Amino acid sequence: MPLSIAPGGQAVLFASSEAHPLIKTGGLADVAASLPAALRELGQDARLIIPAYPQAKRLVRELRVLSELGLKNTQGPVSLLGGLLPDRDLPVYLVEAPAYFCREGNPYTDVSGGDWGDNPERFLLFARVLARVALGLPTLDWRPDVLHCNDWQTGLAPVFLNSYEERPATVFTVHNLAYQGVFDRATFDRLALPPALWSIGGIEFHQRMSFLKGGIAFSDRINTVSPNYADEARTAQYGCGLDGLLRQLGSRFRGILNGIDYRTWDPLQDVSLAQNYDRDSLELKATNKLALQHHFDLPEDEHCLVLGHIGRLVEQKGVDLILDLLPRLLEQGNIQLVVQGEGDRALEQRLLDQATQHPSQLSVRIGYDEARAHLIEAGSDLFLMPSRFEPCGLNQMYSLRYGTVPIVRRTGGLADTVVDTTADSLASQEATGFLFDEANAEALWGALERALRLYHQEPANWRQLMQNGMTKDLSWEASAKRYQAFYEEALQSRSEQAAALSA
Ligand code: GLC
Repeated sequence: MPLSIAPGGQAVLFASSEAHPLIKTGGLADVAASLPAALRELGQDARLIIPAYPQAKRLVRELRVLSELGLKNTQGPVSLLGGLLPDRDLPVYLVEAPAYFCREGNPYTDVSGGDWGDNPERFLLFARVLARVALGLPTLDWRPDVLHCNDWQTGLAPVFLNSYEERPATVFTVHNLAYQGVFDRATFDRLALPPALWSIGGIEFHQRMSFLKGGIAFSDRINTVSPNYADEARTAQYGCGLDGLLRQLGSRFRGILNGIDYRTWDPLQDVSLAQNYDRDSLELKATNKLALQHHFDLPEDEHCLVLGHIGRLVEQKGVDLILDLLPRLLEQGNIQLVVQGEGDRALEQRLLDQATQHPSQLSVRIGYDEARAHLIEAGSDLFLMPSRFEPCGLNQMYSLRYGTVPIVRRTGGLADTVVDTTADSLASQEATGFLFDEANAEALWGALERALRLYHQEPANWRQLMQNGMTKDLSWEASAKRYQAFYEEALQSRSEQAAALSA
C-alpha cells in the first residue's frame, strides 16, 4: 500500500459503493470520503474500499495492483488495487472485477435509468471481497480491526463474516432504509447462497431476500445517520418493513449525525464560486447570485429572491411538492427558482416543461455537477428541502454553511439540523431556517411565506439568521468521535462474543 502509515488507533476498513470525488450519486459519496478522513485526523487508520469503476480508476493517485484474489465462481479474475484519493491522503482500495464494474456512468443503473440486471451478482461479489480483505489478505500486510459497511450494496459482507472466529468487528450504517437490495427467490438460488440464510434469522424478507437486512441483522453495531431518523426508523411509518428488527436491536442501533467536510464546503475557500465570502462579508454573496443567474440563463438581478434545490428528483425528496407550489410561487414575481438533479424521468419532464413555460423564473439542469452544486449553495437566498423522509440530508447543512437559509420539512436529520425561526429563536440567535410539518404544497407555502416576510420586512434579522447558520458547528469532529466510540463498543461486544464461543 503506498500509504502504509499506521497512525495507531483502530484500523478501519470503510466500505461503500460510491465515494466523492471518484463517483457520486448522493450523500453517501460525501460521507464515504469525509468520514474516513475525519477518523484519520483522530488517529484512526481508516481506509476506504469501493468497486473499481472506470471513472474511479482514472482518478485514484498512485494506483497499483496489490493482490490477485483467486476467488472461485466469478466471471473473470478479481484483484485488489490500491492508491490514494486525488484530493487528500486517504488510502483507497479498488475492487477490480471488469465483468462486474467496468461500466461508465451511474454505478447502479444502465443508460435507460433501470437497475443493472446483475446488481445482485455485482454486490455479492463486492461483499465477498470485503469479507476476504477483512479477514486479512496475506499479501496486504494490513488487517482491519473494524469493517464499517454502508448501505445494502455492502450488506452481505457481515453475513459472510459472521461464522469466522477471527473476524474483525462489524459496523453497519444505513443511509436510507428505502433502498434495500431486495430480490426474488430465483435470485437467491442463482447466487448459490447458503440455504440456511433463507429464514427469518437470515436474509429472507417477506418471501424475498434482502441485502440490507443482512447488514442489519449480522453486524455487531448498526446505526443510521441522524438521531431523529433512528427514532423514526423504529416506527411502521418510516421503517420500510424493518422497524421490528430495528426495535429488537435495542441500543445496538442508534443515530449518529453526519458531519460535512469543512475543507470542501467553505465559502471562503471554495474555488467553484464567483466570489468567496464569510459571515462578516455577506454582502459579497450577491456576486454569486449574479453568477448563478447567468449560469442558469435567468435574468441577472441581485434584488430578485433566488430559491435553490439540489437532489435526486424522486418522490422521497418532495419534488412534487415543489411542482405543486410553482403556480403560487411564480405569481409572486421577483422570485426565481433553480433546480439541479436527476432521477424519476416523469418528474424531470414536469420540471423541464414548467421551465420552458416560465423561462425568466425557473431554470432546471438535469444531471449532477459538483461545481454547479457549490454555486447553487452560494448564490441562492433560500434552499428548499421538502423531503417526505430524510435520513440526514447534507444539502441543508451545506446551505447553512453558505448563509443560504434552508426551508425544510420537519423529518429525519432535517429536524436535527435546522432550527425553526420564531421570535424566541431569533432573540436567542438559535434560529437557522424554516420548518413545516405536513408533506404538501400548502404547508411548504406557509413556511416560505414566513421566510419571505422576514426577508422583506426585517433585513437585520434576516442577516442574523444567515449568520446563525454559518456559525453552527456542522463539522465531522464531534460525529467522528462518536463513531470512534461506536467502534470501541463493536470491538468490545465482538470480543465478548468470541470469549463466549471459546468457553
Ligand atoms: C442518503 C440519505 C441522506 C443522507 C445521505 C448520507 O443519501 O438519503 O439523507 O444524508 O445518505 O448519509
